Amino acid sequence: MLSSTSANTATVIPLHSYQAVQHELEAGLLSDAAYTSPKYFYDAVGSVLFEAICVLPEYYPTRTEAAIFSTHMADMAHVIGAGGTLIDLGAGNCAKAARLFPRLHPDQYVPIDISVDHLQDAVRRLQQRFPHIEMTALGLDLSQDWVLPSEVREEKRLFFYPGSSIGNFEPAQALHFLRHLRSLSGDEGGILIGVDLIKEHSLLNAAYADSLGVTAAFNLNLLRHVNRVLGSDFDVRQWQHLAFFNPEKSRIEMHLQAQADVRVSWPGAHRNFIRGERIHTENSYKYSINSFVDLLASAGFSTTRHWTDENGWFAVIYAKAA
Ligand code: TRP
Repeated sequence: MLSSTSANTATVIPLHSYQAVQHELEAGLLSDAAYTSPKYFYDAVGSVLFEAICVLPEYYPTRTEAAIFSTHMADMAHVIGAGGTLIDLGAGNCAKAARLFPRLHPDQYVPIDISVDHLQDAVRRLQQRFPHIEMTALGLDLSQDWVLPSEVREEKRLFFYPGSSIGNFEPAQALHFLRHLRSLSGDEGGILIGVDLIKEHSLLNAAYADSLGVTAAFNLNLLRHVNRVLGSDFDVRQWQHLAFFNPEKSRIEMHLQAQADVRVSWPGAHRNFIRGERIHTENSYKYSINSFVDLLASAGFSTTRHWTDENGWFAVIYAKAA
C-alpha cells in the first residue's frame, strides 16, 4: 500500500494486483450506467495532455489559482506562520508547493503522489535548491484508505491540496477525505486548499470543452489506457467527448458518448453500447465559498481565511484544526 523514499532510497510496492485493477475496470464498464475511474486519464499521453489543458485559455482554474497565490502569498504566510510540516497531496512535479517554500519555510516537505517514481526527479532538484528542508516523498493512492508513516513529523502539519482536486470527489467522499485529514492533522494542524467556485455556466462549460479539442483528446485517451490495462478493443473514433455543467448537482460531468452502436470486447467479456449511450468518466464539483466552509466545519476545521481572484472564480482557503 505504501512506498516511500528519502534522498537516495526508493521502495516501490505495487498498489493493487493487476487482476484487481482489471476486475474494478470491468465492473464499471458492465454496469448499467457505465463508468471508469479517473485514474485512467493519467498515462504518459494523458499527463502531457493535462499539462496542455492547464495552459488553454478556456481552462481558467490553473492560472487563476496561481494568480491568487502570487498576489496573496505574503498574507497567506502571515496567517499560516512559518515552519512545520508541509504535506503536499497529489504533488506531481512539486512546483506549486515549491513556490510556498520561500515564505512558509517548512521544516519538512512531504510530497505525496500515486507514483513515488514520478516524484523522484522533482524532489532531487528541489532538495538541491532547498538543502535545509527535510524531504520525504511518499507513493500513496489518496482515493483509498491511507496513513502517514512515522517519518512524517507531527509538528504543525499543513495539508496542501491545490488545483480543486477536492471537486473530483463526491461530496460525501470529500467530507470523508477532509475528516481523514483532520484526524491526521493534530490540534496544531491545518489545510490550505484550492476550490473552484460556481460561476456562469458558459465559462464552466468552455473550461471542460475547449475549442482546440485538447480536453476531448484527454477524455478519449482514457479509452486507449483502458485497452492496455483490460485488453479491450475500444476505437476512440467511435466515441465523443461530452462535458456539461449539471446545476442540480453543482458539478461538471465528463462523459464519453458512443457515436454509433458499438461492441467492445475484452478477454472474458464484452459490452454492447447503443448509439448515444455514455461512459461517465469524471465529475468536477463546484462549490460556493459558504458551502465549502460548511464542509470544512463538518470535517472539524474552522476556516480562518480565504483569498479569491477579482472575478470570484476560484478560492484558496486556509482552515485550522478546530
Ligand atoms: N481535475 C480536473 C478538473 O476537474 C480534471 C479535468 C480537467 C478533466 N479537464 C477535464 C477530466 C476533462 C476529464 C475531462 O478540473
